[in-house]
Amino acid sequence: MKKSLLITIDGPAGSGKTTTSRMLADRLGYRYIDTGALYRSVAVEVQRTGTSPDDDDGLKRLCSTLSIKFVTGEKGLRILSQGSDITDQIRASEISMLASAVSARPVVRKYLLNLQREMGRGKGAVFEGRDMGTVVFPDADVKFFLNAFLKVRARRRYLELASTSSQTLAKVEKDMQRRDENDSSRSLAPLKPARDAIIIDSSELSADKVVERMLSFIEDRLHPSNPDLAK
Ligand code: DC
Repeated sequence: MKKSLLITIDGPAGSGKTTTSRMLADRLGYRYIDTGALYRSVAVEVQRTGTSPDDDDGLKRLCSTLSIKFVTGEKGLRILSQGSDITDQIRASEISMLASAVSARPVVRKYLLNLQREMGRGKGAVFEGRDMGTVVFPDADVKFFLNAFLKVRARRRYLELASTSSQTLAKVEKDMQRRDENDSSRSLAPLKPARDAIIIDSSELSADKVVERMLSFIEDRLHPSNPDLAK
């Protein structure tokens, strides 16, 4: 696949976005950008500086001092904030909730909107998030929206966390449902599929199958068998 595309993958927690976005980026030789990690990094800084997630002036001041970067090193893709590696810290469960809270604040979204668009320059990237196809990159070349039943998503997240956390499946499911409600009901850039997104339900599909499906949609977009149906 020669042309450099900008591809977006949105969807709720546990829908398989991260695994499939990484695999897809790998198959295409593109950069992979996890925008949830950016919101999580802001949450880590909010916690570290004792900023209240409701204090818009405080959040604005904080954002104006932030420097968040992805780097690829010996340990794979890492995220640095203010020069420190916070890749492991951003996955803590209290950071998940705090990230969901700060992501509803307009000042934080505005700061990250600019950062994400900057990262998207030059294309050749797969962007994973909640509002990639609707707000950040409305003109993306191909947009996917991944979904799966809550029970399936909770089970996936529970198995992922099992080695590092003692949370029960019921607690993981409850937290996930709360976070879904926060992310979908906020007034600014709520989680929802873009009108032109390709919706894939991953409840009964392996990650490999999802990626195969995505690749075939991308191929079709590049070389439509019926050009009248193409974008
Ligand atoms: O994908 P994730 O679970 O790592 O995302 C963490 C939080 O960040 C999630 O609750 C919603 C928010 N988020 C967002 O609002 N917009 C994005 N593009 C990505 C994540």
